[in-house]
Amino acid sequence: SRSINLAVIPGDGIGQEVVAQGLKVLNAVLPEDVKLETKEYDLGARRWHRTGETLPDAELEALKEHDAILLGAIGDPSVPSGVLERGLLLKLRFAFDHFVNLRPSKLFPNTATPLAGRPEIDFVVVREGTEGPYTGNGGSLRTGTPAEVATEVSVNTAYGVERVVRDAFARAQARPRKKLTLVHKNNVLVFAGHLWKNTFDKVAAEYPDVTTDYLHVDAATIFFVTQPERFDVIVTDNLFGDIITDLAAAVTGGIGLAASGNINPTGAFPSMFEPVHGSAPDIAGQGAADPTATILSVALLLRHLGYEAQAARIEEAVSADLAERDGTARTTDAIGDALAGRVAG
Ligand code: IPM
Ligand code: MN
Repeated sequence: SRSINLAVIPGDGIGQEVVAQGLKVLNAVLPEDVKLETKEYDLGARRWHRTGETLPDAELEALKEHDAILLGAIGDPSVPSGVLERGLLLKLRFAFDHFVNLRPSKLFPNTATPLAGRPEIDFVVVREGTEGPYTGNGGSLRTGTPAEVATEVSVNTAYGVERVVRDAFARAQARPRKKLTLVHKNNVLVFAGHLWKNTFDKVAAEYPDVTTDYLHVDAATIFFVTQPERFDVIVTDNLFGDIITDLAAAVTGGIGLAASGNINPTGAFPSMFEPVHGSAPDIAGQGAADPTATILSVALLLRHLGYEAQAARIEEAVSADLAERDGTARTTDAIGDALAGRVAG
């Protein structure tokens, strides 16, 4: 019989609350013959305060054995900026070679957005996940003096760019509109820009059915607001992808709905699914967080593991739930219950 061996990292702040709802919906949607095993990992701010550890090797090894990872959120104001981001979240993305950071954006019904009522918005950003300025390649000279110099080098390899560009073309090919937009800044970042554009054009020749387009990242931010329906699949580097997916979330219904998958398409390591939002310490512990982004991340997780019908059921449930939202505040738990009820049917 089938089984899912899931690692759960609730993490910090609202991470705990939203992950509980994600698991509730996962349990409700899975067919009875699928055995779900979960193991929770205590990683994040509390662990760091207690032991000074972010992600010990033993836990990294143990995580490798799972089919997938569900993560809530990482980060807390009591921990110096960068410690958990680099020592835990990015460490996982790099160690498990999550080179496809998949971030879909869809205009769901009835959502509070400046774009409500616009033609259908349904695009997906394929953000490179292991390179760019995220590699920690840089340094500081004369730190803390008036003569300080800081560098933060963006690393782009032919290998790393080609594999993510290929993934994006394959995704575009599989969608009805078959359109792929490369977002970069090759008028200024000429070296990396050349590698990306060259690779993009080379792979494009193998996908004659896919319509291609190129936008500088600054121009892309304009179109996200003025003409979002022009996008189908977007491929971009790690940092541009980070920034434009927050914008994409904001214009299509808010960060409370934005799901993501850190995917290793080769299956060599477990892929990791998480809401795009952070730990929101200001509202943590109040039952005020919207768990929908986490629940939609569970849908991405199921799709990745081959449970397409169950993934679609969750997405339909979210659509139906949003269509009926009337502005009355609901608790984290109440939203989780409502969605679990809908997918169980
Ligand atoms: C995200 C976050 C992370 C990123 C941070 C927390 C390291 O903003 O997942 O988008 O920059 O990738
Ligand atoms: Mn981000």
